[in-house]
Amino acid sequence: MCGIVGYVGDRPSQQILLNGLRRLEYRGYDSAGIAVIDAEGALHERKRAGKLQTLVDDLAAHPMADGTTGIGHTRWATHGAPTDANAHPHLADNGRLALIHNGIIENFTELKDELLAEGVEFRSETDSEVAAHLIAREYRRVGDLEAAFRAVVGRLDGAFTLLAIHADQPGVIVGARLNSPLVIGLGEGENFLGSDVAAFVEHTHSAIAVGQAQMVVVRADSIEITTFDGEPAEGEPFEVTWDAAAAEKGGWPSFMAKEISEDPEAIENTIRGRFHEGRVTLPDLDALGEGYFREIDRIIIVACGTAYYSGQTAAYMLEKWSRIPVQVELAHEFRYRDPVVDERCLIVSLSQSGETMDTLMAVRFARERGAKTLSICNTQGATIPRESDAVVYTHAGPEVAVASTKAFVAQIAAIYLLALHAAQARQTLTDAEVAHILAEFETIPDKVREVLQHHDRIRELANWMADTRSVLYLGRNTGFPIALEGALKLKEIAYIHAEGFAAGELKHGPIALIEPGQPVFVLVPSPRYDDTLHPKIVSNIQEIRARGARVLAVAEVSDAAVLPIADEVFTVPPTDPAFEPLLHVVPLQIFALELSTAKGLDVDQPRNLAKSVTVE
Ligand code: F6R
Repeated sequence: MCGIVGYVGDRPSQQILLNGLRRLEYRGYDSAGIAVIDAEGALHERKRAGKLQTLVDDLAAHPMADGTTGIGHTRWATHGAPTDANAHPHLADNGRLALIHNGIIENFTELKDELLAEGVEFRSETDSEVAAHLIAREYRRVGDLEAAFRAVVGRLDGAFTLLAIHADQPGVIVGARLNSPLVIGLGEGENFLGSDVAAFVEHTHSAIAVGQAQMVVVRADSIEITTFDGEPAEGEPFEVTWDAAAAEKGGWPSFMAKEISEDPEAIENTIRGRFHEGRVTLPDLDALGEGYFREIDRIIIVACGTAYYSGQTAAYMLEKWSRIPVQVELAHEFRYRDPVVDERCLIVSLSQSGETMDTLMAVRFARERGAKTLSICNTQGATIPRESDAVVYTHAGPEVAVASTKAFVAQIAAIYLLALHAAQARQTLTDAEVAHILAEFETIPDKVREVLQHHDRIRELANWMADTRSVLYLGRNTGFPIALEGALKLKEIAYIHAEGFAAGELKHGPIALIEPGQPVFVLVPSPRYDDTLHPKIVSNIQEIRARGARVLAVAEVSDAAVLPIADEVFTVPPTDPAFEPLLHVVPLQIFALELSTAKGLDVDQPRNLAKSVTVE
């Protein structure tokens, strides 16, 4: 939440900052602002409520002096409404110091009272402005931005990434992070800062992740990392493995449309090189220790939102194949209920961004209780993988649309690899069974490509349903969390009431919602593999049809029982039931995308949301 960018070098920084903010805008789009220091040592700032384009238009209409040192911010509002005044940067020291902030300063009220008592005037309602005035006060005392900054960061509680510049010290950006992300991009005679590498990937692939409770002083030709106390410290260097082009729309109408089309590659890239000759090889898990999977007696998956649903989906196979009991928990509920967690329990966190605060806190909590932690993450250098004992990266590529799609299927694929690895270690599947599963796994990207062929027909359906006020989703077994995910997608980008149910739950209450014309998506498992679930879901379809529901089924191509009784059927090619969720979710993703488009909404940047939720 909130995107931060910084540049110091010999090039004019405005455009670099605005480009960086464009790539970070998925982190929040309530307001945007930049501040630069020009050649004469004067600080210039411009900020506007609304999306980044409002700021860009404003700068085009009323140009501002440029400079070679600058910072920029795109905001997701926490304290204070999305107004010009509450936008960042915040100025202090008579407009000579500018500060940007991502996070929440939890003790800001007492700090603000202290400043108010000294007669400091505040221009905004934000917690962030407090940090700007505190640093300015110290600066007046010590005359050095780094020293002033250091004196303040230790007093701040909560979560923050802060960057500050001062007109008296052009060519220097001082930053710090606690529980919020900060990454440095290393250039030739220039350096960059960002909430994530997207901020600077068009300029450099060389990056350093700044560690927890560390401060940085960045100049064009030097980088200094220290602890808050001033002890020398090291960040974690890494190379970015994707190009700026991967985070461009590339001719697609929206990032979400592009990212759904990349579902097959997301799976392909996540499994590539991770199995050979019928066996999974995941050296990423070596860090957990030799024989680890034979020693544990429980796995707890922690995640939020779509990542939680991918965990719920994949948990079925994780438990079935490894015979290790698996629990799936919403990260923000988990750590507040005093759960039983010990050293015989593996915590698997799922996070596309690797920065979700709720998930990070659940991981820290579990480590304190002695559990080992494994991060499944899509973002290199992010905080959660760095704080975990082991990491399996998904290789979905950068996901820009706020609604998660390709990361969802990649997360399921990654847990399946984990499940097979554990099954091999515990010998709960035979070699032949593992080889058989892997052979089918390899076919899944092409099968997803087949499902993507339904896009035009789903668009027609969505156009026709643009006025729909409510959609229900039903599934059994792995179809249940897929139903929940389908409903979440529709809520978040089409603003339509949607609910997912376990189909078996229907007669225990939800069937009362069915009235003539009610659209209901039903996820139908293959009849070929399953002689228990399939007839039950066919009965469920009959029950809702009898009450007038409009049945939109996702079913196997040859499902003779469903084809005649559904109003619409989106067919999927035959596969092992384990892989059905990877096919079934695709029509639901496309449906949400197309219904949002049919309503004329901003598909990629839905209201009130931000992609990376870095506050609790
Ligand atoms: C929904 C969505 C969110 C995220 C959730 C966790 O489409 O994107 O529900 O899945 O905020 O985010 P990560 O995976 O970054 O931890």
